Amino acid sequence: MKSICVIGAGYVGLVTGTCFADLGNDVVILDIDAAKVERLKNGLMPIYEPGLEELVRRNATSGRLSFTASYEEALAEAEFVFIAVDTPSGMEGEADLKSVRAAASAIAAVMDHPLIIVNKSTVPIGTGDWVADIINRHRHDGVDFWVVSNPEFLREGSAVHDFLNPDRVVLGSLNREAAEKVAQLYLPLRAPIIVTDLRTAEMIKYASNAFLASRISFINEIAAICERLGADVKEVAAGMGYDRRIGPAFLDAGLGFGGSCFPKDVRALAHMAAIHGCHPQLLRAVLEINADQRRSVVQKLRDLLGGLDERTVGLLGLAFKPNTDDMREAPALELVHLLQHEGARVRAYDPVAMDNARRVLPDIVCCPDAYAVAEGADALIVATEWNEFKHLDLARIRDAMRHPIFVDGRNIYDPERMAALGFTYRGVGRGYGT
Ligand code: UDX
Repeated sequence: MKSICVIGAGYVGLVTGTCFADLGNDVVILDIDAAKVERLKNGLMPIYEPGLEELVRRNATSGRLSFTASYEEALAEAEFVFIAVDTPSGMEGEADLKSVRAAASAIAAVMDHPLIIVNKSTVPIGTGDWVADIINRHRHDGVDFWVVSNPEFLREGSAVHDFLNPDRVVLGSLNREAAEKVAQLYLPLRAPIIVTDLRTAEMIKYASNAFLASRISFINEIAAICERLGADVKEVAAGMGYDRRIGPAFLDAGLGFGGSCFPKDVRALAHMAAIHGCHPQLLRAVLEINADQRRSVVQKLRDLLGGLDERTVGLLGLAFKPNTDDMREAPALELVHLLQHEGARVRAYDPVAMDNARRVLPDIVCCPDAYAVAEGADALIVATEWNEFKHLDLARIRDAMRHPIFVDGRNIYDPERMAALGFTYRGVGRGYGT
């Protein structure tokens, strides 16, 4: 059993801390937002993540997991401190390190015994050295510390599962012994553990996310070509996926990637590359294609309806992907913006993201279900591929609409079936007539 402090009770910090507690460690999760800490103490989750609430309750009840807003309290017993704070995009696409700096300074000011400081946040290459430098300057004399980079690879919606079943654990440090000590924490997970230097570990995270984002933009570019040349991108992707060198994952064409990681990380890597004299043309193209995906869906609708002014468009799904209530950089945000800009009225429903959506999209009509969205709509767009949309009574949807026009931004329906039901149906990259 080890004593661990996790700084930041967001997706990454909360999942990491809770899972480490579940593995039998003593964990204190710190957040500077005292109200959030109070809610967590009362068992109220700040985010929707399957399985997390139950895991928090179980470990809090057993006394292995606690929450605090005080650095003194959080660090009192800690051997390891995980920094899991936000690193949002700055003005130029760079990662904003304000929260990392604040956490590093606060740790240095309070620590009075040796600590291993582990960076989990996605941070620009070189940040580990920078954190070490901040702590060096602010610490009390003679208190030793070591910095380790340990990037997270958690997907929202399956973060608990991903933490407990990682494909690999990446650890980077200038001090092998410190990295080995962090490796011990992960031994129960029986995953491959890669120990390398700080900068390489930091780069593994960016390169992994940029590669996955590139796959999505690649298949979206192929989808655009399929559309013009009469091929079906879903079948193309399936056919490609059988090649073991390619594999089937991350080849779903559609509205493109969103969320709190991919867009921000690709922008940050491109920014880092550019300021160091590289020309990140591929990364820039990945972002450009992604932005085009939203525009092309709106264009399909504009063509089908002969203009969008005063049209009523219904959105099925708002979250950036299924099984999350997260609206950060969700394609639906841009869709709504583009549609409203052209004078359309937007109605929408999402199974769990409605509360978050109301805050960021105050001018849409929020509906209680998909059938209510269809009521009087001139067209529908699938923006998020929630399972419940795959099992809708489509005849009922059709009958509720003013015009049976369906633009499927996630390719969840069969074009032939939709045509047979009387819809004018368009998917993404699904040849002529779809
Ligand atoms: C991602 C990474 O997977 C994770 O390792 C990292 O640490 C954080 O970022 P997440 O943002 O939760 O996780 O989402 P993910 O499930 O990876 O999907 C990202 C986006 O890509 C979603 O908007 C999704 O709709 C889109 N996507 C994914 C596609 O458009 N096509 C695909 O084939 C796969």
